[in-house]
Amino acid sequence: MPQNPVRYDSSNMFRQAVGLHGASAEEIKAYAPRLAEAKQNLLREWKRKEQGWLGCPDDRRAVDAVIRLAKRKQAFKTCLVLGIGGSDLGARAAFQALKHKARGMQLVFAGANTDPDELKEILSGLDLKTTLVNIISKSGDTVEPMSAFLIVRDELKKAVGKKFAVHIVATTDAKGGSLRALAKKEGYATLPVPANIGGRFSVLTFVGLFPLACAGIDVKSLLSGAKAIRSQFQTQTPEKNQICLFSLLHVLADRERRQNIHVLMPYGARLQEFGKWYRQIWAESLGKKTDLAGDHVNVGPTPIAALGATDQHSQIQLYNEGPNNKVLTFIEISKFASRLSIPASAKQFKSLSYLTGISLQKIIHAERAATAEALRQNRRPNGTLFIPQTDARSLGALFMFFEIATALAGRLYGINPYDQSGVEQGKAEMRRLLGGR
Ligand code: PA5
Repeated sequence: MPQNPVRYDSSNMFRQAVGLHGASAEEIKAYAPRLAEAKQNLLREWKRKEQGWLGCPDDRRAVDAVIRLAKRKQAFKTCLVLGIGGSDLGARAAFQALKHKARGMQLVFAGANTDPDELKEILSGLDLKTTLVNIISKSGDTVEPMSAFLIVRDELKKAVGKKFAVHIVATTDAKGGSLRALAKKEGYATLPVPANIGGRFSVLTFVGLFPLACAGIDVKSLLSGAKAIRSQFQTQTPEKNQICLFSLLHVLADRERRQNIHVLMPYGARLQEFGKWYRQIWAESLGKKTDLAGDHVNVGPTPIAALGATDQHSQIQLYNEGPNNKVLTFIEISKFASRLSIPASAKQFKSLSYLTGISLQKIIHAERAATAEALRQNRRPNGTLFIPQTDARSLGALFMFFEIATALAGRLYGINPYDQSGVEQGKAEMRRLLGGR
């Protein structure tokens, strides 16, 4: 039987561990009907095809199409991925976590900023003759990736002439938008972003899967991990399900105790970008002006992407002794891919000799456990997600875990987690400043 790809230890989130700063059994009980309703709503939205992301792990045709197209393009050495927000952060996170296992193209990411120095530097490090460009924009009109794309497209034309279209794959809306029109006119290969899947929930669609397949990452395992976690969610009762519990504990912390800063702190450098993906889905989905009834509520937790053990020497002081307005979630990788131990030379140093022969894995696990315990002693709620290793299955499971947790939290806050009017407002203002319509 395959291992559980994610396991949530929530013991330090409760009153027994952190006193009145933690959740009580009564609170959980009081919210149980709302949690059950949130689950039913989500499953209904999926069944009615209003939300398609829950179904991604079953979309065999999409996986086959992705693998086929990646194979057709395998002569390219590099894939330049242009996108922003939900069209960028998922593939970045998965590539950082999994590239050590991949043997395909090198992925290079751009288009998430309009910083000319950054783009120039990236372009100067690329041989465009051997580069595939995957421009990803659901709307096809987003200024950052589309500006980068138009510049890159010109450079491509200079480098390879008339064949430039062979170097481009456009992932965009199936029908509308400037990118779709351009792709049709110039003959790029295209992949559709499903209309019923929003940007930040799209990592397991063509948006994330195509660049990852180009890199040689095992996209089938990514989806199998997501499916395993989704099945738990479908079959277990909300009281027994770890994603439901995670979501509820975070909403309760915010609503009942004003612990509205939600820190994700993976202990493992390969998961640093995952923290940024989490930061977007939690912030953009849950930070809202109005509730479902249209009343002004201005709700939303502030997510922080931290990194263990590094940030123990940066932020843990604040988390242990500053305002008790945070909830921390660690990610522990049970088995690291590399084994390194402290050499015998440590014995020469009185203060370090105790480390002799100990593996770095054991040290990083101890650091996570020690931080969790210190926080508990200071009455700071915290939990840990355990993954067996940094592989495609665990990562797919983590993506699905947080997508479901976010959707449920949206319901518990009483808001729509799928829109982003606060982002659109800034976009409209920028267009006005630059003379657009
Ligand atoms: O989650 C979202 O919807 C956003 O973050 C979008 O992904 C982001 O704005 C990019 O949009 P697009 O793919 O249309 O370029």
